[in-house]
Amino acid sequence: MTALDRTGRTTRRAGPGGGPAIETSGLVKTFGETRAVDGIDLTVPAGTVYGVLGPNGAGKTTTVRMLATLLKPDGGEARVFGHDVLHEADTVRGLVSLTGQYASVDEDLTGTENLVLLGRLLGHGKRAARERSGQLLEAFGLSEAAGRQVKNYSGGMRRRIDIAASILNTPDLLFLDEPTTGLDPRSRNQVWEIVRAVVAQGTTVLLTTQYLDEADQLASRIAVIDKGTVIAEGTKGELKASVGGGTVHLRLREAEQREKAAHVLSGVLGVQAALDPDPLALTARVGDGGRGAAEQAGRVLAELAQHGIVVDNFSLGQPSLDEVFLALTDRTTAPRTSAEDRNGRKNQKEAVA
Ligand SMILES: Nc1ncnc2c1ncn2[C@@H]1O[C@H](COP(=O)(O)OP(=O)(O)OP(=O)(O)O)[C@@H](O)[C@H]1O
Ligand SMILES: [Mg+2]
Repeated sequence: MTALDRTGRTTRRAGPGGGPAIETSGLVKTFGETRAVDGIDLTVPAGTVYGVLGPNGAGKTTTVRMLATLLKPDGGEARVFGHDVLHEADTVRGLVSLTGQYASVDEDLTGTENLVLLGRLLGHGKRAARERSGQLLEAFGLSEAAGRQVKNYSGGMRRRIDIAASILNTPDLLFLDEPTTGLDPRSRNQVWEIVRAVVAQGTTVLLTTQYLDEADQLASRIAVIDKGTVIAEGTKGELKASVGGGTVHLRLREAEQREKAAHVLSGVLGVQAALDPDPLALTARVGDGGRGAAEQAGRVLAELAQHGIVVDNFSLGQPSLDEVFLALTDRTTAPRTSAEDRNGRKNQKEAVA
């Protein structure tokens, strides 16, 4: 990633007076009867990764497109580094870059050709465009594939060239709309590294994702949106604390005792215990946080011992973002974790479209 360090930043990375990178109030977008974005208030601090988390159709892409001046809001206001997206659209356009949910590079061109062409369009001279393209291809692990047509790239390579294209000129604000959807774990990690490197350069990143673990890994603050509105906002810690309680994780000595253990847990805690894929493990939510959770966990252990159930490993942790999302939306369909994703995602998209 060292080549990214040679970008030579010249512009300011904060709003006027150190203000936020993005500020919206009551932002609205309707498509016919659909209120895709229904009054969104967001404040995104400069120089951080901000996660916008929500299920299919929540309004993530629509919000990003309005902020990137690709779509006109029907109501409310949005400012990027203090500039109104509607009345100062040109200024905003000069500060932002967008990597869309669907790759935007030209399939028939090679990696190098794509980046050089876009570099020239951005006003770089021939030599500068070639140099910058070479740096980015190297930094993104695409040097070997540089001379191949993009249509022959794998999904992960496609996503990386797409992000490379969006940071040819290091933007003040980079929108990444579901940058890792459908990628394997290794490619996801590569994209995460790229995001970290871009932010280390001072760029603010607004990242939309359906993956709770991605938001957990990258974002300093997270807005959870559902049906076009923000239903929760804060740091990961704040979001987790807001639902209270925690989770007990147990690993038993013997798999045959798991059913009985689940029964004991339900009895003590009054909630259903979840059986993990590991046949020895089970998990359950505990009460209202703080001492309450610890006390309940203690009672669980005592009861299990009384029933002759041997516990090899025990932990009391914060709720996961999955649990936070479920608690917030109070429904059974949370955004997917990366482990659940892979092949099903494309079909799901098509069904939604
Ligand atoms: N151009 C459009 N015309 C009509 N309806 C649209 C249009 N774009 C988005 N919508 C609708 O607006 C709502 C929000 O869509 P949006 O694409 O913003 O969701 P999203 O959060 O990005 O979802 P996903 O995770 O599937 O990408 C959906 O109900 C969608 O069908
Ligand atoms: Mg989208």
